[in-house]
Amino acid sequence: MQKRSPIEVFGEWAEIGKDEGMAKGHESAVAQMLDSVLPATSRFSFLDAGCGNGWVVRKVGQLPHCSRAEGVDGSVQMIEKALSFDPSERYHLADLTTWTPETSFDVVHSMEVFYYLADPLALLKSIRASWLNAGGKLVMGIDFYVENTSSHDWPEKTQINQMKLLSISEWVALFELAGFTDVQSRQIDAKVDWAGTLCLVGTA
Ligand SMILES: C[S@@+](CC[C@H](N)C(=O)[O-])C[C@H]1O[C@@H](n2cnc3c(N)ncnc32)[C@H](O)[C@@H]1O
Repeated sequence: MQKRSPIEVFGEWAEIGKDEGMAKGHESAVAQMLDSVLPATSRFSFLDAGCGNGWVVRKVGQLPHCSRAEGVDGSVQMIEKALSFDPSERYHLADLTTWTPETSFDVVHSMEVFYYLADPLALLKSIRASWLNAGGKLVMGIDFYVENTSSHDWPEKTQINQMKLLSISEWVALFELAGFTDVQSRQIDAKVDWAGTLCLVGTA
């Protein structure tokens, strides 16, 4: 079988309802990622990069201090699914590598997306330079990385053609090369045979 692009494969996941199981699987790590960056008392705007069916956009949009929550994804089926839950202007159908938001955000979040990009550094640079307000934060979570050896067979299992396997120090270096400051990394919900979700936070 020929390998396919992540946008094509995840579009199919949305068609057969696998997006909902994926959201459940990501829920705990995402809650901890959000806790580490969302301001508790001041107002903030929020963007989810690679938002899938939009579940994080809806979750954050309900918070009392959130002024605006938006999501962008390249899969037609994922964005259609998001709109079926919530017909609004908050979802953008676009490729992350070419999209530019009309207005910038205080927080950009991205869960399980960055290793699907051919050039993650280019997107990190765009996010820092033009997607985020000065002092804004990017929080990224990924499960496919060198130290999480039980994820290494995913390219074969998923038959996705583009998956970049980098180590924790390589991801930290990319954030720093993109100009993020105060870069922090940690592994969330690690257990036996699972090194956890690698979470990186950087300040623009
Ligand atoms: C593993 S899913 C994660 C979805 C969501 N973040 C979640 O946690 O449920 C990866 C998502 O990234 C999107 N994606 C991958 N590459 C993309 C690109 N270059 N531009 C836009 N979306 C992309 C896919 O369409 C898919 O919805």
